[in-house]
Amino acid sequence: MFDFRIGADDKATMYRDLASALQGLVAGEPDSIANMANASGLIFETLPDVNWVGFYRNVGDELVLGPFQGRPACVRMTFDQGVCGAAAKTRQIQRVEDVHAFPGHIACDSASNSEIVLPLIRDGELIGVLDIDSPKKARFDAEDEAGVVKLGEILSQVL
Ligand code: SME
Repeated sequence: MFDFRIGADDKATMYRDLASALQGLVAGEPDSIANMANASGLIFETLPDVNWVGFYRNVGDELVLGPFQGRPACVRMTFDQGVCGAAAKTRQIQRVEDVHAFPGHIACDSASNSEIVLPLIRDGELIGVLDIDSPKKARFDAEDEAGVVKLGEILSQVL
């Protein structure tokens, strides 16, 4: 078992330590399911105030549930559905302060109030998305976005 103990007070340091732990966790491991599983566990354990962290994989232009931490979630989404679909379709990170105000949001867990979804792209191909949900409204700010983008840069290489 790994115990990374990431507990920095400021977000920039926390995300730097998280990225470093993630890099160590996936280094040299070619199995994408193992890497998604460990990444979701690490991020879920590290970030405060999150209730769901996981992956949707691009399988034939449909988003299919991958490894995650949190409550069981919807299995499939089109690129026209939900925040995840918007991230996949636009290939732009989606940072949503209030998911209930997002047209087409899919409520897998009624406890979720805000979320951030990062498209994962390698060599121009959309691999999938990383979805992080929070019960707090406006949980994710610009610093979170920058930190999550760094995590995505690491993950895109190993999925
Ligand atoms: N909220 C997401 C659906 C997936 S779950 O929250 C795990 C969305 O609307 O894309």
